[in-house]
Amino acid sequence: MKLVKLLANLGYGSRKEVQRLIRAGTVTDINGKVLGENNVPPINQILFRGEALDPPSPLVIMLHKPDGFTCSSEDPGSTIYELLPERFALRNPGLNPIGRLDKDTTGLLLMTDDGILLHKIIHPKSKCLKVYHVTLDRPLEGHEADVFSSGTLLLASETRPLLPAKLEVLGEKEALITLHEGRYHQVRRMFASTGNHVTGLKRISIGGLQLPDSLEEGSWRALEPEELARIFA
Ligand code: URA
Repeated sequence: MKLVKLLANLGYGSRKEVQRLIRAGTVTDINGKVLGENNVPPINQILFRGEALDPPSPLVIMLHKPDGFTCSSEDPGSTIYELLPERFALRNPGLNPIGRLDKDTTGLLLMTDDGILLHKIIHPKSKCLKVYHVTLDRPLEGHEADVFSSGTLLLASETRPLLPAKLEVLGEKEALITLHEGRYHQVRRMFASTGNHVTGLKRISIGGLQLPDSLEEGSWRALEPEELARIFA
């Protein structure tokens, strides 16, 4: 790929801006040699203002989503895109969340620019289970695990029952719930159907991939290939 197109696709600017930046000598190889529009060394040997380029497509990142950020690019308030480098919003193809989280849900959010991978992960057939840590307003009554695992629970205004979900009680008002699917406000609506109210919700894993302790709230990083494989393990 031509250098101008490569950098423009990574969001470093429009083609015109990138062309200007290349002509100004801001793009070099790892030995400091200024690159022209027709020099394209391997991408891991290109520096922009002395810094390695962002990873090219296909890219998968994990974000530790904080409370108060929406998973939409169009929300007038704070969006998850504000937690990423500004130029990520200009990437082509763009990064999309793999299964959205509500504004007040925290935890593991994967994002990718690979549409096929995105659908593979969110499709119930792929069996990438999602685990959430739930904090409740009122004590659990004891019947919730049976209701959620029944495979017959019908949420308000839906016609298809939920797939069985596993509930693991951690305390009076605290549990882990494992889902096979990702319907709108699913966990909150499941507990609402039992007369309870979710006060805190955090996604802690997707498939075999856990939210690492080392990833602070609001931080992100690209997935290692073995972490990507773990999603399907
Ligand atoms: N279930 C919900 O209710 N909200 C989320 O953000 C994720 C799952």
